[in-house]
Amino acid sequence: MHVEVKHLDKHFGSFHAVKDVSFNIEKGQLIGLLGPSGGGKTSILRMLAGLENPDSGEILFHGKQVNRLTPQERGIGFVFQNYALFKHMTVFDNIAFGLKVKKAGKEAIRNRVMELVELTGLKGFEQRYPHQLSGGQRQRVAFARALAPEPQLLLLDEPFAAIDAKIRQELRAWLRELIERVGITSIFVTHDQDEAIEVADEIMIISQGKLEQKGTPWDIYKEPSTPFVAKFIGESTLVENAAELKGFDEAAKDGDTKALIRPEYIEVGTEHEFQVLSATDSGVVKHLHFRGSQWLVEVEVGGHRLITYRSLEKETLHTGQEVRVLVHRAYLYNQHTSWVAENRFKLDPLTVII
Ligand SMILES: Nc1ncnc2c1ncn2[C@@H]1O[C@H](COP(=O)(O)OP(=O)(O)OP(=O)(O)O)[C@@H](O)[C@H]1O
Ligand SMILES: [Mg+2]
Repeated sequence: MHVEVKHLDKHFGSFHAVKDVSFNIEKGQLIGLLGPSGGGKTSILRMLAGLENPDSGEILFHGKQVNRLTPQERGIGFVFQNYALFKHMTVFDNIAFGLKVKKAGKEAIRNRVMELVELTGLKGFEQRYPHQLSGGQRQRVAFARALAPEPQLLLLDEPFAAIDAKIRQELRAWLRELIERVGITSIFVTHDQDEAIEVADEIMIISQGKLEQKGTPWDIYKEPSTPFVAKFIGESTLVENAAELKGFDEAAKDGDTKALIRPEYIEVGTEHEFQVLSATDSGVVKHLHFRGSQWLVEVEVGGHRLITYRSLEKETLHTGQEVRVLVHRAYLYNQHTSWVAENRFKLDPLTVII
């Protein structure tokens, strides 16, 4: 189902929980909703489902406004974080629930439930009660129950939050595959960046009621469109005055520009490792942490502590060593705007031949 949201707004009393949120979701896409607690993720899902009324804005499914439709009329499946299965019902009856509400025939119910039991790997568990299942199994029942009435949109609100890390990873892969197989448009809320990056076609980052950015995980990582996103996704070091960084003096000359630098945009090494030495700054290694496949290096440059990685194959550095540091690229921002800047010496080596 194609989903379109236009200028969605919601207050709870005087609290402005969702602020002018607009987005489009193509049919069959899996969208990850990511952001800090209290940002408005659940509120957005609840409005899509019809469990909450927006103050203003439009929700369109297949191009038709659904604002006034009841949850039942919207054709949505919902899975919550705390597997709210019906405790007194078997797996079979839990999955059959939505079909019974729709007054489907007995035979049709049986066929559909058995199909879903198969699809979700729950065969043989039909007569068990929720307390006789593991967390992961219960959550799969919740998926089967949500999928049973053939919804056109699946809303998943931290479905794996209560499940331990290892099982959670298995469930992630399972969910991705299931959604691809069923081909259903889905929105998936999570607190976990890796989960969103692994599972989603596109990510929406929500903070303080606003949609900060929507894009593929790679786009968001590469080109964050707001300082919030740049800080939120991945690791980075903040430098308060970007003009103090070698190669960024021009780009940040107003003196009021901050820089966020990801570890992979920083190169640290000995003199002979750099071609354009004049693009580098001098630094001192403060700490080295062995990270299994590489070194994490903390290096101090002009009073700033930067973090980067270094391959195990290169000459091993030591604490206190004087090194050269090249900042290839930085995400710069001030009160008015933000942009990705390249080290100007690196871009045009000629300018540094003195
Ligand atoms: N029914 C309500 N009445 C009053 N305030 C509410 C209500 N529902 C949500 N809020 C507030 O709106 C804000 C957004 O809540 P929401 O549940 O949408 O956040 P969230 O992004 O889902 O957070 P989390 O990641 O913790 O689940 C919060 O500050 C919350 O306290
Ligand atoms: Mg929530």
